[in-house]
Amino acid sequence: MTQDELKTLVGQAALHYVVPGEIVGVGTGSTVNKFIEALAGMRDQIPGAVSSSQASTERLQALGIRVFDANEVGELAVYIDGADEIDGRGFMIKGGGAALTREKIVAAQSRKFICIADESKRVEVLGRFPVPVEVIPMAARQVGRRFAALGGQAQLRMKDGQPLVTDNGQHILDVSGLQVRDPLAFESEVNQWPGVVTVGIFAHQKASVCLLGTARGVETLAY
Ligand code: 5RP
Repeated sequence: MTQDELKTLVGQAALHYVVPGEIVGVGTGSTVNKFIEALAGMRDQIPGAVSSSQASTERLQALGIRVFDANEVGELAVYIDGADEIDGRGFMIKGGGAALTREKIVAAQSRKFICIADESKRVEVLGRFPVPVEVIPMAARQVGRRFAALGGQAQLRMKDGQPLVTDNGQHILDVSGLQVRDPLAFESEVNQWPGVVTVGIFAHQKASVCLLGTARGVETLAY
């Protein structure tokens, strides 16, 4: 199966976790796009969704799924999202699609995080994928120097020759060269550096379940 077919498979498998009658939290990315397509078939069974990005909001609305503001609703039963890496404990790197801050907010508002990913995302130690960090622009260099002291190399994410601007009006640093062996401590530490909006380590908001697309079918990993 191709990677795209594996994404379709896990996107469809995630429907099983959507609770009829309840608003669902929706992430961002190419795997989630498959889930959104599948969710359209259930649109009459749910009041709608809370979305983690402008891109997902547009897709949901185009398919006739109502999008609620996170402040309009209370706790959500489930949040469904992809990952750039996931380890054996359900800790993840996220933010390849620059939506990490809103993803973490919706994940924190949800009882369960269902991660949908193909098997290329499964790692032993987080850090092969550069860790995305959303920063206030004036702090980018300072935060980059702090990562250098930890052995990382921070690069400002660009788009069309300009620094990429997130849905929150901020910038992204992609930090390579790290091996994140203690994701809980790493997330707590980096999150309190001045100018860091969100670090793309999801340890405090880890996955409850991962639906992993493999050549053998969908494997359900619970943490
Ligand atoms: C977006 C994310 C995505 O979940 C992550 O980048 C995985 O994306 P894809 O499903 O396209 O591989 O964190 O900010």
